Amino acid sequence: MNPVIEAINSRRSIRAYEPTPVPRDIINAVIEAGNLAPSRGRMENGEILFQPWRFVVVEGQEFKQKLVQTTNPIWKQSMERIKETHPETYENAMNLYETMDEPKDMVYYSAPVVLFVIGLASYDVSCALACENIMLAAHSLGLGSCYVGFGSMVKGNTDVVKALELTDDERIFGPIVLGYPKDLPEEPVMRSEKKPPKIKWI
Ligand SMILES: Cc1cc2nc3c(=O)[nH]c(=O)nc-3n(C[C@H](O)[C@H](O)[C@H](O)COP(=O)(O)O)c2cc1C
Repeated sequence: MNPVIEAINSRRSIRAYEPTPVPRDIINAVIEAGNLAPSRGRMENGEILFQPWRFVVVEGQEFKQKLVQTTNPIWKQSMERIKETHPETYENAMNLYETMDEPKDMVYYSAPVVLFVIGLASYDVSCALACENIMLAAHSLGLGSCYVGFGSMVKGNTDVVKALELTDDERIFGPIVLGYPKDLPEEPVMRSEKKPPKIKWI
């Protein structure tokens, strides 16, 4: 099969990682792939600029702890909220929680790398394309990844906001967690199956 289609077909969100560190040249290769995504141009000081994103790589344990402490309560509150309204999603998440090794981290899944894609808020489509490139490149290099929207809810921690150097016109895309997967699920974990595409031909 065509290797790009094969990578798209076999990529899965990974929620259990080996503690093995990811070499920096591999992280750089993944970021380069994100940086090559298409992007919408914008005028700034008479110039047309592209690539409205930047990247922050978190490898340090201490900073990861800050991230977990900030976002874990938000994850818990959300689970309480969806318990009644989305019982299947709640159950899938709880099954994952039960089988997870200690210390349980349901936001960043104890991944060795948390990659923040930080971009101009009004260029969200471009930034999302960079995220997809990152996840496909990661998969093609033998890494697992997961786009963890919960992990972006860090605004309540000023230390984190300061370290990420987040400005008012920026937002976090992802973050994307990266690492060597403990296993590669055949089917997506959080929902039962991928639906076939809805297509209308004209
Ligand atoms: C915008 C966005 C936010 C997401 N947030 C989370 C998240 O917080 N936690 C998580 O485990 N997965 C998250 N995901 C991953 C989805 O759950 C996953 O892509 C979906 O279940 C399909 O599974 P697959 O990626 O294995 O095909 C997110 C995906 C997207 C695109």
